Amino acid sequence: MKTKIAEKFKTLFGEEGDFFASAGRINLIGEHTDYNGGFVFPGAVDKGIMAEIKLNGTEKVRVFALDIDEYVEFGLNEEDAPVQSWARYVFGVCREIIKRGGHISGFNAVFAGDVPLGAGMSSSAALESTFAFALNYLFDLGIDKFELARIGQSTEHNYCGVKCGIMDQFASVFGKAGNLMRLDCKTMEYKYYPFHPEGYKLVLLDSAVKHELASSAYNKRRESCERAAAAIRKNHPEVEFLRDARMEWLEEVKADITEEDYMRAEYVIDEVQRVLDVCDALERDDYETVGQKMYETHYGMSKLYEVSCEELDFLNDVAKKCGVTGSRVMGGGFGGCTINLVKNELYDHFISEAVDSYTKKFGHAPKVYDVVISDGARKLQ
Ligand code: GLA
Repeated sequence: MKTKIAEKFKTLFGEEGDFFASAGRINLIGEHTDYNGGFVFPGAVDKGIMAEIKLNGTEKVRVFALDIDEYVEFGLNEEDAPVQSWARYVFGVCREIIKRGGHISGFNAVFAGDVPLGAGMSSSAALESTFAFALNYLFDLGIDKFELARIGQSTEHNYCGVKCGIMDQFASVFGKAGNLMRLDCKTMEYKYYPFHPEGYKLVLLDSAVKHELASSAYNKRRESCERAAAAIRKNHPEVEFLRDARMEWLEEVKADITEEDYMRAEYVIDEVQRVLDVCDALERDDYETVGQKMYETHYGMSKLYEVSCEELDFLNDVAKKCGVTGSRVMGGGFGGCTINLVKNELYDHFISEAVDSYTKKFGHAPKVYDVVISDGARKLQ
């Protein structure tokens, strides 16, 4: 990938720049908890985005997306927003830096990636954090890592229409090889957890479907949670986010909110607790409990939060039938992957069962990605 980027950069711009990279992410547990002030448990993966970048001394940004062979040029003012959705991520990062007082000007860039698109591994966060990290370095802006993550998140909010939480950008910026991270999305305290489950593998099965309107459905989930939290807050003013609420408090307002909002909130309150239970279980190397919680998350995401789909429920069922330790839909949902915690000796059987039965049912094979927990945003040599 690096060689191809370098060749293209040389052809387009006649010079050489610096290389930067960032990663997609997995999440062991803690889904749709981030924007509710709860806990998440992600890690960066060995699939990401790589870019070669050099300042060009003008007010223009010139970017080439190698994977789709598309070139875009834009200025740095609000009215210069490009129409191409991929370019809006780069533009958004520039704008968010400028809004925070960062002095930046034009640059040339070529980038490519190997995070599967629409797989729920957050290719967009990888793209945002690659550019946020690179511009911070090249313009010597002195922005700290949390703010780099927030720049990516605000890009999603203000330029891409997704009111996402902080998990993906956090994972992409803070990722460390061999480590998962538990992040408290309310206090932003985090802790690295070396993750080497003896005797198990983590594997993603990508349904290779992405359902339409995922971002508007995502935003609706968030609104449901905010309404439920607001209702609870009337009785319990200390409830800033759903994370602060107890199930009994949700029960108290059951009649005041819609059934749908109730279900969403019920899922979130349970899920916040599940992350903590998984952390405890990991301290004891108790992977059976970890797996059990993953299945509970899947059930909640499918039946209460309603962000699963037929394909993902099918993959979850196959895992259960094969005796896989843990399995669930990962990321925002509405397509994408399941994440599976599988005993080594079961791995081959599970993968072949899943691939065969899924192909028979849906007419195309799921993709299989072994999880390798890797470093996040960085400058390459
Ligand atoms: C998407 C969002 C994240 C998070 C997950 C669900 O990946 O970008 O902020 O909410 O969905 O956990």
